[in-house]
Amino acid sequence: MDHFLYKDDVLCAEDCQIADIAAQYGTPLYLYSRATLERHWHAFDKAVGSVPHMICYAVKANSNLAVLNVLARLGSGFDIVSGGELARVLEAGGDPAKVVFSGVGKTRDEMAQALRAGIHCFNVESAAELETLNEVAGELDMQAPISLRINPDVDAGTHPYISTGLKENKFGIAMEEAEGLFLRAHALPHLKVKGVDCHIGSQLTELNPFLDAVDRLLALIDTLAEQGVVIEHFDVGGGLGVTYDEETPPHPDDYAKALLTKFEGRQLTLIFEPGRAIAANAGLFVTQVLYLKENSDKNFAIVDGAMNDLIRPSLYSAWQKIIPVSPRAGETRAFDIVGPVCETGDFLGKNRQLNVQAGDLLAVRSAGAYGFTMASNYNSRPRVAEVMVDGDKHYLVREREKLVQLWQGEHLLP
Ligand code: LLP
Repeated sequence: MDHFLYKDDVLCAEDCQIADIAAQYGTPLYLYSRATLERHWHAFDKAVGSVPHMICYAVKANSNLAVLNVLARLGSGFDIVSGGELARVLEAGGDPAKVVFSGVGKTRDEMAQALRAGIHCFNVESAAELETLNEVAGELDMQAPISLRINPDVDAGTHPYISTGLKENKFGIAMEEAEGLFLRAHALPHLKVKGVDCHIGSQLTELNPFLDAVDRLLALIDTLAEQGVVIEHFDVGGGLGVTYDEETPPHPDDYAKALLTKFEGRQLTLIFEPGRAIAANAGLFVTQVLYLKENSDKNFAIVDGAMNDLIRPSLYSAWQKIIPVSPRAGETRAFDIVGPVCETGDFLGKNRQLNVQAGDLLAVRSAGAYGFTMASNYNSRPRVAEVMVDGDKHYLVREREKLVQLWQGEHLLP
């Protein structure tokens, strides 16, 4: 459930009217609901109950400082994939001791930055990374806490671009190599083995792939125990899907319950890395219709938002619901909702039944995750404003970029 509802036929974000927010800050804009973010985070946290655990929100989903800060205040941990994300977490008041660092291409500088910050764990993804981390920690006279990300070779049944747990994917360490690499890590002087992790893909709507992955990694943990390698935590990654359209992903409660049965009787701390499940439905992308245009067999609503602002529809053929901020009575027509960018692939939605006129506001739902974080300046379009509502108040949490910022840092030849 989220807090974007029609009240008296006008779309509201919590207790604020979205039309007022758009009038104040302009469009396009991203709009987040604090109550929804908190609700989704608590849903995870409560679902795991008294079992020792950390909810490490995946920063890549939405890294706005205000979003991170709202979650940090709840006691959230964070899953990061770059030095930039670590810096954001610290800037937002996040606790480095609750940070896990994922990603296949950590640089030596990023490793040193994270070691100095005192993060909870590095999720190591290859033998080469393991050796490098040992060296970097040695140079700093430190021990790096590590987990190995195992690729359990399960099919997450999701879009190929966001499926990560198959052998053919670049992520993680193959099952066959896992034991040998754990023994190597155990023997290296500047590493401390803490855990095991996996992340099999994103927008999963079934439980079974998660459960299969857990089974495979638990078997590995047992083998390691026989060799004297003690695993303290199990990081199940992120990936729980959300409802964009008709999908019926498991509720965090059912997801956690199913997983917990696997861990009964084990002394493992659990780590979760949800991104989408917390942020997606806590955000909208609000855009204004500039022009209506018809050709022989299509109606286009040309809006001021575009693929550079919200790339999911273009990149993954993702379907996100598009609704009017102030619905009009009367007949609807099928519209393609397209932006001003010079690409045929620049659309937010196709074939949507709407009754719209130039000047109307539309809201693209489920845009709180992988929306702004994937935005670019393509076509020299300034990145849009981000606003967060909190009850009957709203706050500008990122200013709309100014034109001069477009070429900041660029230089002419002498
Ligand atoms: N942990 C790791 C190691 C990840 O790679 C990811 C996402 C997550 C956690 C969070 O997954 P989530 O709970 O959000 O599914 N841009 C794509 C999604 C890419 C996901 C990448 N990894 C999209 O817009 O659908």
